[in-house]
Amino acid sequence: MKKLFAVLGDPIGHSMSPVMHNDLFSFYNIDGVYLPFQVKDEDLYDAVKGLKALGVGGFNVTVPHKSKILPFLDGIDELAANIGAVNTVVNENGQLMGYNTDGPGFLKGLNPILPKIAGQKVLIIGAGGAARAIYFTLAKENPDTLDIANRTVEKARELIKDCPYSVSSRAYSFEEASESLGEYDLVVQTTVIGMSPKIDEQPFVLNNLRKQAVFCDIIYNPLETKFLKEAEQKGAIIQNGLDMFVYQGALAFEKWTGIFPDVERMRDNVLKQLGGRTC
Ligand SMILES: NC(=O)c1ccc[n+]([C@@H]2O[C@H](COP(=O)([O-])OP(=O)(O)OC[C@H]3O[C@@H](n4cnc5c(N)ncnc54)[C@H](OP(=O)(O)O)[C@@H]3O)[C@@H](O)[C@H]2O)c1
Repeated sequence: MKKLFAVLGDPIGHSMSPVMHNDLFSFYNIDGVYLPFQVKDEDLYDAVKGLKALGVGGFNVTVPHKSKILPFLDGIDELAANIGAVNTVVNENGQLMGYNTDGPGFLKGLNPILPKIAGQKVLIIGAGGAARAIYFTLAKENPDTLDIANRTVEKARELIKDCPYSVSSRAYSFEEASESLGEYDLVVQTTVIGMSPKIDEQPFVLNNLRKQAVFCDIIYNPLETKFLKEAEQKGAIIQNGLDMFVYQGALAFEKWTGIFPDVERMRDNVLKQLGGRTC
């Protein structure tokens, strides 16, 4: 019988996950279907209960439900519990288990251009949900420093305080981060600034960055944000958010099926979907 997979969010119409995963099911001859469901906050519990009753194989969770879903699951793995957010649920013998593949997806996507985080000086810009996933994941890799700059500095301080892994971290304002940018080997932009349609903005001007430092922006629409354009012009190696998106999906697919899928195929598929859109 066809296995059901899904993504729950609100809104959900723009999600590229259904096309990406349905293509993989057909490519690997798996009798599965992946459907998007728009779920309001007040319906989340019923939606999860319904999926469980239907014997769902697994599902993704996206904005705004990544944290709200925690109490409705049967179990949560350690990383997702520390992050406080789940983006992937697996039906393990009738039990709905929550995982977070956003941080590990970012790390896996980064690997070809920066294979080792240990000993690196890292700055994360932003302190929202995606920043949390990336911060906790990188903290386990023994960086030399793992600093955070955020518009609301108190949120960066809270994130650092919540982290159970021992790592040297400071919380900065954007102004302070801009002044010390030259210290960092890796800078990861995780705020919404620069995202379509506000594509002419960036968190701060990139003065004094180190040539050959790696600058990532986890936004993938547009594929090259103003932040990345400026970083590249000033000599940095850059990466957009497409790799993180594809690898978080690949890790979810692996948890559901045991197959680590062809990420190049996934990337092409997402690029095709992005190509059909206006930014
Ligand atoms: N590539 C991927 O797979 C992937 C995965 C997840 C998310 N993302 C992208 O990551 C971005 C953040 O997502 P999220 O879930 O972390 O969102 P979130 O939890 O809402 O966090 C938003 C972040 O942006 C900052 N921010 C918002 N408006 C701002 C403004 N006008 N000026 C300065 N800072 C502002 C917030 O700062 P304050 O704390 O001061 O409010 C916070 O740090 C989105 O663009 C999302 O599409 C990509």
